[in-house]
Amino acid sequence: MSKVYLNGEFLPIDEAKISVLDRGFIFGDGVYEVIPVYGSRLFRGSHHLQRLINGLKAIRITNPLSDIEWIKILEKLIQQNGGGDQSLYLQVTRGIAPRDHRFPEPISPTIFAMSTPLTEADLDKQTGISAVTLEDNRWLRCNIKSISLLPNILLKQQAYDAEGGEALLLRNGFVTEGASSNIIVLKDDTLITPPKSEHLLPGITRDLVIELCHTHNIPYELRAIPQAELFEADEVWVTSSTKEIIPIISIDKHAVGDGRVGNGWRKISQLYREYKQSFREGRAE
Ligand SMILES: Cc1ncc(COP(=O)(O)O)c(C=O)c1O
Repeated sequence: MSKVYLNGEFLPIDEAKISVLDRGFIFGDGVYEVIPVYGSRLFRGSHHLQRLINGLKAIRITNPLSDIEWIKILEKLIQQNGGGDQSLYLQVTRGIAPRDHRFPEPISPTIFAMSTPLTEADLDKQTGISAVTLEDNRWLRCNIKSISLLPNILLKQQAYDAEGGEALLLRNGFVTEGASSNIIVLKDDTLITPPKSEHLLPGITRDLVIELCHTHNIPYELRAIPQAELFEADEVWVTSSTKEIIPIISIDKHAVGDGRVGNGWRKISQLYREYKQSFREGRAE
């Protein structure tokens, strides 16, 4: 039975209970993080923690813990679940109060964290996935990792219904990101990804890919990507913490490039793997 953390306690998942008045349950009023763990260590832990802190600030929840306290909880959770490789889910909601849109008088945020097995998306990586484009009808604060994911869920399901593995979202004719990932386009050996804005989540994996480009002198551009460029790209990838870098081989049933996983993806994936290996060996954060 997996162990979870809830408001100061570590306990078996089926013993963890929250009030029906929790504002996460009633309003989706909270933020979350998904953090990969390799060799019992938090991968890009400080980046995830910073994004959590930014999210709390953006939705005006006072950060209830110091950095050291957050890390201690997560490290203990990793140990309680047997160490090794895991995926941690961490959620903070505004807490429990009678239902009212207005913020309640200061209350304690609800802090919940659980561990799930880290399933590497190996098949998706080998074969690539297909994607469909959909109108990005989410709100204008997509940089907040909000637990209110209904728009993303509906878009993702719409993609699945159309036999796509991901929805690539378009706002005013430009691609913003995937329903649960960031997007990177490769054209003439240059990586292109939209700059950070309120239209997309500042992805930790996206940042790492950019960092790798920087380190290895791979050309990249941070700029808006018009829809047409998706269909002219040599390669298109989506990134996320647990799935890493996934090649998209078709969009709206049109082949991307030659319709197969490309060499650009192979190269960046190799660098990503090497980085992970150096992390496991304690040479990288
Ligand atoms: C909407 C959205 N964009 C981007 C990402 C990728 O972010 P990260 O690389 O930090 O996992 C996610 C991950 O869940 C996401 O849900």
